[in-house]
Amino acid sequence: ELLLEEMQAGFCSVSGLIENTHTGFTGEGFANTDNQVDAQIKWQVNATTAGDYNIELVYAAPTARPSTLSSNGSESALAFVSSTAWDIWSVDTAVITLVAGENDIVLSANTAEGAPNIDSLKILGQGLSAGACS
Ligand code: GCU
Ligand code: CA
Repeated sequence: ELLLEEMQAGFCSVSGLIENTHTGFTGEGFANTDNQVDAQIKWQVNATTAGDYNIELVYAAPTARPSTLSSNGSESALAFVSSTAWDIWSVDTAVITLVAGENDIVLSANTAEGAPNIDSLKILGQGLSAGACS
């Protein structure tokens, strides 16, 4: 498995900022997207084997923040139901399609509230490494 944290390899950008103002996160903090439709977080990963991979996103938001995760033209819906509070973290899961080699993974907010705060993205499986965000 591969765990991608903000401010580390494989985490490329957030249309917003990296914060640490709510407790309970892992790593340096969490990504806080702007509160607008299509606010995004981008990651890049390398896979040795093409296929479908299960992913886990750790997030927090006191209201639902439905979003879309896309990779190589395939899209997964993420409900991101309320975690009840900004310092209570939940996990949402999806399946993404990766090609062999470099993959861009993009989370886009579906509503004007933006995405939830995102603590980490974990991809389950073997042969995965952080991309260079090129
Ligand atoms: C608050 C909170 C942020 C969050 C934002 C939001 O400002 O402190 O962490 O991202 O609300 O509504 O998205
Ligand atoms: Ca936000």
